[in-house]
Amino acid sequence: MRPDGVGVLVSGTGTNLQALIDAGIPIAAVASNVADVPALERAEAVGAPTRSFPLAEYPDRDARDEAIAEWLESYGVDLVVCAGYMHLLRLTFLSRFPDRVVNVHPALLPAFPGAHAVEDALAAGVAETGATVHLVDDGVDTGRILRQEAVPVFPQDTPATLHERIQLVEHRLLPEVVKELLAG
Ligand code: GRF
Repeated sequence: MRPDGVGVLVSGTGTNLQALIDAGIPIAAVASNVADVPALERAEAVGAPTRSFPLAEYPDRDARDEAIAEWLESYGVDLVVCAGYMHLLRLTFLSRFPDRVVNVHPALLPAFPGAHAVEDALAAGVAETGATVHLVDDGVDTGRILRQEAVPVFPQDTPATLHERIQLVEHRLLPEVVKELLAG
């Protein structure tokens, strides 16, 4: 148990979780909404407690989010990082960690919120997009922006090549912001 560490929410590959680990951020616990994802293996590899909370196992989203919050609190978590977590968090969760939940998003918010930010930026034909680290509120990527950085879009880009370029920035920005938040 790392009472001084962050709680991380994941849904998939976990490269942002890996960036936190590689930057030496203490990880208290890692929760996923999906079982058996690579992100949980990355957490287990460094001995962090993990647990998945599939929505189907709970009566509703509030109950599921409350269970995640309680589990994280049992590990002393007071800063939560959404690192590729693909579900919206309910107020039942957010009210337990006021202004202490951050997310990384693959666009220059407020442009291109939502789950298809990279595809949407390509479809819009913008010359640049980027990465944003922001506080989470109960809107869709609407919380206060803490840090963002632009990334160029090239004519030959596919969603995969553009996302890869954005993720290089995410993997630097997210640990920087989390370190600052932990330092108070
Ligand atoms: C990241 O690009 C993040 O911006 C978005 O989902 C992706 C997750 O990637 N919210 P990973 O699971 O951290 O590799």
